[in-house]
Amino acid sequence: MLFEKLYIRMSILKRPRFLYKIFKYYRKFFGEKDPGDLPFNFNSEPSRIEIIQSIIDKKKYSSYLEIGTYQDEVFSKIKCSHKIGVDPFSGGNRRMTSDDFFIQNKEKFDCIFIDGLHHYDQVKKDLKNSISCLNEKGIILIHDCLPKNLSAQAVPRTERDWNGDVWKSLVEQRTKHNTDCYTIYADHGIGVVLKRENKNLLDLNNENFEKLKFQLFYSEHKKIMNILNINDFMKVLDKY
Ligand SMILES: C[S@@+](CC[C@H](N)C(=O)[O-])C[C@H]1O[C@@H](n2cnc3c(N)ncnc32)[C@H](O)[C@@H]1O
Repeated sequence: MLFEKLYIRMSILKRPRFLYKIFKYYRKFFGEKDPGDLPFNFNSEPSRIEIIQSIIDKKKYSSYLEIGTYQDEVFSKIKCSHKIGVDPFSGGNRRMTSDDFFIQNKEKFDCIFIDGLHHYDQVKKDLKNSISCLNEKGIILIHDCLPKNLSAQAVPRTERDWNGDVWKSLVEQRTKHNTDCYTIYADHGIGVVLKRENKNLLDLNNENFEKLKFQLFYSEHKKIMNILNINDFMKVLDKY
């Protein structure tokens, strides 16, 4: 528990440059070969705040849960009648980890934004718990699903601008029948999980999604992430 908190604080709030360098060199010599940068450019796309708010307004949602609030850049701006923000260190209105929050939570939510620890296994847990407390016709959004390169997705973290391996949890969810998943091409990639039968089942036989290689993401991201631009995603939402 103490170690978990220390790790989160170190990897998110304090930036231990010497540790970053050690991990980076280790990865360079013993890790996966770097395929280079993907040509992602989100500058002319809407921000996560605009996207979350337009979804809340369009579907007339009345409850919002944010996992990982940091400096409340999003949490303070979202307009929704009931808002809960969970973070062990800063922002929001519940000072605890997402695991602790879900253990004691009895509420259900219309819109859940997952943006806590960007590790596959944590996002997988956050996603499972979020699905359990999502209202019918609700939506789960997951930040940082489109890393530009190997360093941006590497765990442990070595970069200031970091997405982690969040993408692997979205890929895994796409292989399940009970939810329908997309990725919006905006703001580092916003994964979407809808609570309905999967209309785009991903046929990927894999027993350990954590071990997926960045090379697969690099060459197959459009297919495995089911990427849509915001206008096309809003059309999907029209029928939800
Ligand atoms: C990328 S920041 C969130 C940014 C914010 N959602 C935004 O859009 O501006 C990640 C946050 O997640 C928090 N965090 C890390 N591990 C967590 C966990 N297990 N449960 C909840 N929050 C966590 C960190 O303390 C940090 O503030």
